[in-house]
Amino acid sequence: MSTSFEPGAPVEEGFIPLCVPEIRGNAWRYVKECLDTGWVSSVGAYVTRLENDIAARLGGGLAVAFTSGTAALHVALMLAGVGAGDEVLLPSLTFIAPAFAVRYLGAWPVFCDVDPLYWQMDPDQVRGFLQEGCRRQGGQVINKATGRRVKALLPVDLLGHPADMDALMELAQEFGLTVVEDATESLGALYKGRPVGGLGHIGCLSFNGNKTITSGGGGMLVTGDARLAAKARYLSTQAKDDPLEYVHHQVGFNYRLSNIQAALGCAQLELLDEYVAAKRRIHQAYQEGLAGVPGLRLSALAPWAESACWLSTLEVDPAAYGMDSRALLKALHQRRIQTRPLWQPLHQSPALAGGHSLGCPVSERLHGQGLSLPSSVGLAPADQERVVAAIRQLAGQAPDQG
Ligand SMILES: Cc1ncc(COP(=O)(O)O)c(C=O)c1O
Repeated sequence: MSTSFEPGAPVEEGFIPLCVPEIRGNAWRYVKECLDTGWVSSVGAYVTRLENDIAARLGGGLAVAFTSGTAALHVALMLAGVGAGDEVLLPSLTFIAPAFAVRYLGAWPVFCDVDPLYWQMDPDQVRGFLQEGCRRQGGQVINKATGRRVKALLPVDLLGHPADMDALMELAQEFGLTVVEDATESLGALYKGRPVGGLGHIGCLSFNGNKTITSGGGGMLVTGDARLAAKARYLSTQAKDDPLEYVHHQVGFNYRLSNIQAALGCAQLELLDEYVAAKRRIHQAYQEGLAGVPGLRLSALAPWAESACWLSTLEVDPAAYGMDSRALLKALHQRRIQTRPLWQPLHQSPALAGGHSLGCPVSERLHGQGLSLPSSVGLAPADQERVVAAIRQLAGQAPDQG
């Protein structure tokens, strides 16, 4: 199926994309300053400024810039002490990057389900597993089924909505685990009034092009622990112990964000509140526009959450709506509207074979029934009305053939 997107070409007239960046404000000025001064690479004032601005937004702590959210997760897990043969609990329903970060270290994911309402990592299942499925041994938590040491929790604030972080932090405290919060999809969301990304022991953000704000690619590691922040900085800059003689005592990474990317990131961060407000309006408009259509439900917003509404996502009950999510995707594509299914649940991913699943029926159902709708910050109201009208009109219709 063609995407109506040719690399480098403008979005085709009349095509409504899923989620594209919104470049505005000071972006040109800041990036030009990097070009004019020659400060384009991994050291520069914008890198420091982006780190400080993110730390301030997340309510203090320290932030370290990375080339991507995945790189930040990789180092965050190292800082959490995760090593080869350890296990890390994460939701089965997520983009695969956090599980890949676990595998980079030779560690194994334990796949948890998400709750059926808000689609976030289910703390009750995590509690049940830690209490019944594990034994304590010499201060460590051992998975009875695999014999591996459980080392960390990796909740993902999915699709813009916070995970139930207090419940997970309490469990981590009780079982001596570290929590790495993957807030890559949810910058700007609040959990009980507190910003996501700063709720775990370590938090990770992404500035990938499909996120609410972008640096053209980039990430951030955030922590309240100065020792961990210093270690993150060290590991992300090739673990250089003597910058003159180039002495290294351990393996490091070239994971440092460039100044030119950070400049774009700074300009975007200035617009974050406006962009999150736009995403929330989009979610609300879908909520109202699709109300009453049988078999359709948007993911719910928890009373303790102010979601950043990164991607508004529908659950399509095929029996009640009249076609399944994939048929709806195709029918919308024919109307030049781009949508996307939710990710293959990670416990079913061939790339992650060998991980341990706690049973994830909700993730499986949402994979089959979930469909993310156009949610760009710049989505015009008239375009959104076109999406809503198409979905309403298709209700009850047999799928188009072909
Ligand atoms: C849940 C989740 N974790 C991690 C990442 C990785 O971020 P990046 O693309 O910046 O590596 C993404 C998105 O790309 C994501 O959606």
